[in-house]
Amino acid sequence: MMTDRAVVFACSHRRGGNTDRAASWLADGVREAGGQADIIHVREHEVRPCLACGYCDEPGERRGRDLCVLGPGDAAWDLFEALLTARAVLFASPIYFYHLPSMLKTWIDRGQQFWAARADGAQWLAALPERTARAVFVAGRPRGEKLFEGAAVTLRYFLHNFAMPLKEPLTFRGLDGPDDLADRADRNAIIDLGRRAWEEAS
Ligand SMILES: Cc1cc2nc3c(=O)[nH]c(=O)nc-3n(C[C@H](O)[C@H](O)[C@H](O)COP(=O)(O)O)c2cc1C
Repeated sequence: MMTDRAVVFACSHRRGGNTDRAASWLADGVREAGGQADIIHVREHEVRPCLACGYCDEPGERRGRDLCVLGPGDAAWDLFEALLTARAVLFASPIYFYHLPSMLKTWIDRGQQFWAARADGAQWLAALPERTARAVFVAGRPRGEKLFEGAAVTLRYFLHNFAMPLKEPLTFRGLDGPDDLADRADRNAIIDLGRRAWEEAS
């Protein structure tokens, strides 16, 4: 069942840096539009890596926890539950080696169970309402044509399993120190993204 809240996944391994700030501004934007937002710091949730055991490829009308041999033994399902039930879904993430940080990617790999369920025609997945996801990416390098490409492609195809198209991410370059995301115009742009996400979801 859908909640009446937004969820912001804050995906940096560093506490109190640019990503955490961006996540908090996204949540501010949701609140300004009249919604409520929960911020989930992915680094605080222990997620075990996919074993590539093939269990989730077995056909059948299984759902949720039953889709994975790792079951409810870690926090992966808590994160999926938040993703599946939030009215609006937003991500704030740094770029690590031209990609998403490994803790987020570890959870994304666990999403293979949903890819398999969708390929298998699972009705409960097909019945999910379409929700548009938003993302903010921050990177240390000031240049680089493909700086955000890998992260965007992976996030887009992960979210596709949940009937969630990803809007073109809002990107920031040249931010390396934890307090570098301090520009007022950037703050306003991020708050505005949160606000629009909630308005569109309402
Ligand atoms: C392991 C690691 C890999 C990184 N790789 C890149 C990279 O490929 N390109 C880049 O522009 N910045 C890279 N950075 C820099 C971060 O994207 C940048 O410092 C960002 O502002 C960190 O966000 P945070 O303050 O939320 O942790 C890397 C940082 C770390 C820790």
